[in-house]
Amino acid sequence: MIKLRKNEQKTLQTLSNINGKAAVDHIMEISGLAHSAIMRAAMNLSELKLIQIHEQTQKIITLNEEGEDYATQGLPERRLIEYIIKSGNSGKPEETAKNTKLKSHQIPIAVGWLHRKGWIKIKTDDGTIGTPTRPREGDDEKLLKLLYRKGGSTLEKLGREMSRVAVNLKRRKLADIEEKTIRTLELTKEGRNLATQLTEGLPQEASQLTPEMIISGKWRTTKLRRFNVVAEGSQTYPGKAHPLQQMVNRTRQIFLRMGFTEIRGPLVETAFWNFDALFQPQDHPAREMQDTFYLSVPEKGGLPSKQIVDAVAKTHENGWITGSKGWGYQWRKEEAQRLVLRTHTTAETIKYLSRHRSPPIKVFSVDRVYRNEQLTYKNTAEFYQIEGIVVDKDVTLQDLMGTLKMFYRRFGLEKVEFWPCYFPYTEPSAQAMVYLPKIKRWIELCGMGMFRPEVLAPMKIDYPVLAWGGGLERLAMIELGLDDIRLLYNNNLNWLRRSPLRL
Ligand code: PHE
Repeated sequence: MIKLRKNEQKTLQTLSNINGKAAVDHIMEISGLAHSAIMRAAMNLSELKLIQIHEQTQKIITLNEEGEDYATQGLPERRLIEYIIKSGNSGKPEETAKNTKLKSHQIPIAVGWLHRKGWIKIKTDDGTIGTPTRPREGDDEKLLKLLYRKGGSTLEKLGREMSRVAVNLKRRKLADIEEKTIRTLELTKEGRNLATQLTEGLPQEASQLTPEMIISGKWRTTKLRRFNVVAEGSQTYPGKAHPLQQMVNRTRQIFLRMGFTEIRGPLVETAFWNFDALFQPQDHPAREMQDTFYLSVPEKGGLPSKQIVDAVAKTHENGWITGSKGWGYQWRKEEAQRLVLRTHTTAETIKYLSRHRSPPIKVFSVDRVYRNEQLTYKNTAEFYQIEGIVVDKDVTLQDLMGTLKMFYRRFGLEKVEFWPCYFPYTEPSAQAMVYLPKIKRWIELCGMGMFRPEVLAPMKIDYPVLAWGGGLERLAMIELGLDDIRLLYNNNLNWLRRSPLRL
């Protein structure tokens, strides 16, 4: 029989335990042998025709620090062209660049690439440019983002076209490409046979001390396997709900435990439920294009019963039976029929109230809403809203404040105050504020109030309605200690893996 050294035996046995074929890195993990030890063993084993060594090279591309910087902030030329477009500045690009946040060494880079990419044209007479149109996202920009998101890739995975772009990123010194040889060891038939004999011939090591071994006294002769109790365990990243989804679930649980029932409605609503039913006049600034996403196809949706629509119309025009003067303008059905991405979930509560009038009512929703807002560290164009209402015979603002204190206490927020403010559909109105000692600031949690008669009368509701609504992301940011809301949406795998399960 062939005599093998210890490491050769171990390599052979490890291989045989994992189906006879594995990459060297994998064998390292399982056997605990060093890379060099396995490779030395592999050479001999392969000479003895007990294994075959397969080699394959891979080109691995990763972003360097500058590349990561550009992946998140945009290429310098992109930042410059955006600035030029926004400011309508058509002067010399070098001059314009000084007004941006670009660092001084980035200015020539930005200007150079503007030319190379043909994003601007210089007028020959005075060296200035006309206002350019916004160029489409280039492959280099796409790849930067992809590499940032995935923490790198192999050229093989990127495919031919993108590999060429990858090489350009390397030339631009934004990425590094390294060749790595992957070696795989595979048992031959002889190797397989030998591994089986080895296993059978070797003294058995026990990894567990059993009651039988103690009773029979066999433990005296059994070789017990040593455990390394200080070895570091490997990191594992088990699947879990997204941190934001965890917050949604938690909010739901809190509402349910407080005796509320969940309601949900469509993301697309008529302006009627989103605005009109809430006594927001048709020329209200919040309805305008910059805040609300209007649908162009289809443009219009259906309205509820004539009775409700007429009552809402009259209330807007002259106050109807509510004692109010209304807004004093000619209400238009067409405006109310327009379809919008709902800007708040209050649209769902009022719709629910139009169909459920008898108290007690306690319902809530945690759902998506949309507003045409600039994406910043604290704003996104789509976000979650928490919304709740309580309807009962003699409820007052005191009850609402008590309910909200209790609600937010369950998120660990203790110092909550209520400051007066304005909403077209509530009176009195307030906003719940929380004091965060860590940043020494008051933060707004939600808007709240009691629905006005102008809202209640058209729905035929004769009882006081307590209502509130606020952002969920705000709570998530406090809870998760974030200072940028975009982290909740940009699928940063690193952060997602590291953020714990917190239910
Ligand atoms: N709908 C309001 C918002 O989106 C919040 C609110 C809800 C205010 C209910 C009062 C009553 O900001």
